[in-house]
Amino acid sequence: MGKEAASAFGRWFALNNFPTPVALTAVCDLNPEVLSWYDAVPSVELLTTNYKELLAHASVDVVYVALPHNLHKKYYLEVLEAGKDLLGEKPFGIDLEAALEIKEAADKLGRFVRCSSEMPFLPGPQRVIKEVLSGRLGQIIEIKAGFLHSSDLDPTKPINWKRQTQFCGEIGVMGDLGMHVLHVPLRLGWKPKRLYAQLQKIITERPDGKGGKAECDTWNNAILNTQVEIGTEEVPMTLEMKRIAPGETNTWYIEVLGTKGGVKYSTKDTKALWTFICEGEQLWQRTDLGFKGMPFPTITGGIFEPGFPDCFMQMLAAYVAERAGVLNDRFGCVTPQEALDSHYVFNAALRSFAGHTVENVHYYQAEPV
Ligand SMILES: NC(=O)c1ccc[n+]([C@@H]2O[C@H](COP(=O)([O-])OP(=O)(O)OC[C@H]3O[C@@H](n4cnc5c(N)ncnc54)[C@H](O)[C@@H]3O)[C@@H](O)[C@H]2O)c1
Repeated sequence: MGKEAASAFGRWFALNNFPTPVALTAVCDLNPEVLSWYDAVPSVELLTTNYKELLAHASVDVVYVALPHNLHKKYYLEVLEAGKDLLGEKPFGIDLEAALEIKEAADKLGRFVRCSSEMPFLPGPQRVIKEVLSGRLGQIIEIKAGFLHSSDLDPTKPINWKRQTQFCGEIGVMGDLGMHVLHVPLRLGWKPKRLYAQLQKIITERPDGKGGKAECDTWNNAILNTQVEIGTEEVPMTLEMKRIAPGETNTWYIEVLGTKGGVKYSTKDTKALWTFICEGEQLWQRTDLGFKGMPFPTITGGIFEPGFPDCFMQMLAAYVAERAGVLNDRFGCVTPQEALDSHYVFNAALRSFAGHTVENVHYYQAEPV
């Protein structure tokens, strides 16, 4: 993900009239091969395997930290204590306790902190949000959102840190994909009140990459059947996070149905926005979206299709604009409170699955699982 960020900063000039210049000046990674890749980035002044050198580097005022989940707390806290602003990666700490500590430190030290989640910056999700806020949907009947991967269906795929609880966290796939799924619902004020979780470990052993086998002990798939309060109504919201969803390659989707209208979007069909209209006949209408619904205009023409590097760049632009006080009414990155709220949901999901119970989500304290 560090390379994705470098690539976005490398074409910052593509953002039209963006008020704040940004340059990648320092990079830290323990792996020399990864580090040498950044030799090709002309703005980089420092390449180091010692993160303390990066934190002491004068031209660094914001640090993007993309590390395995077990390292989030230690490094996020050190970035904040060094007086730098932070763009953290999800899940923003390996568990609820870590997320609480990071949020508290960010508040206490007064740093500008946000968490990564780029998919909602695509034009499709932006239109979904607009449709919901317009009130055109009437009374909301139900919400479905998800993020689906499938490469783990291959049992010969070697193990890595994301498939081991000690590095990825007890929350497994929820830590990997859950923040992406909850970003838009939480921003719309849809905080699950209670939930029932179905968690699955499907492939439990993988090649260790050294000729042997290693235990793969994380949750592969999670379905959270949640209840949210919208006005005076209790509304079902289903959240899917799956590493083993056959045929799905990074499919992010959201669907919102109401009594007067509906809206759905999936990255599987990147340009298509579906809106439901009920005027005599009931019909789903497809609109082809181009680049022009991006929050930050770029040199790319309005008819062209956006992709992953584009929404990642838009997310970084939102971070920089909000930090500079010029986000205005545009969509912003995940806040520390939203990242923490996602952990309250994941924590309740672990409790639910452990006890086969419906659990209330308590947004104020850490509860033992
Ligand atoms: N926003 C997204 O779409 C997205 C996608 C993938 C991963 N992520 C998140 O990004 C983070 C990193 O995931 P990734 O896929 O880039 O992982 P990765 O394993 O590809 O990269 C992690 C890098 O960290 C380096 N590293 C490990 N320990 C280090 C240390 N102590 N000091 C310095 N460098 C160290 C490794 O050498 C490696 O290059 C995770 O939080 C993950 O959830 C986000």
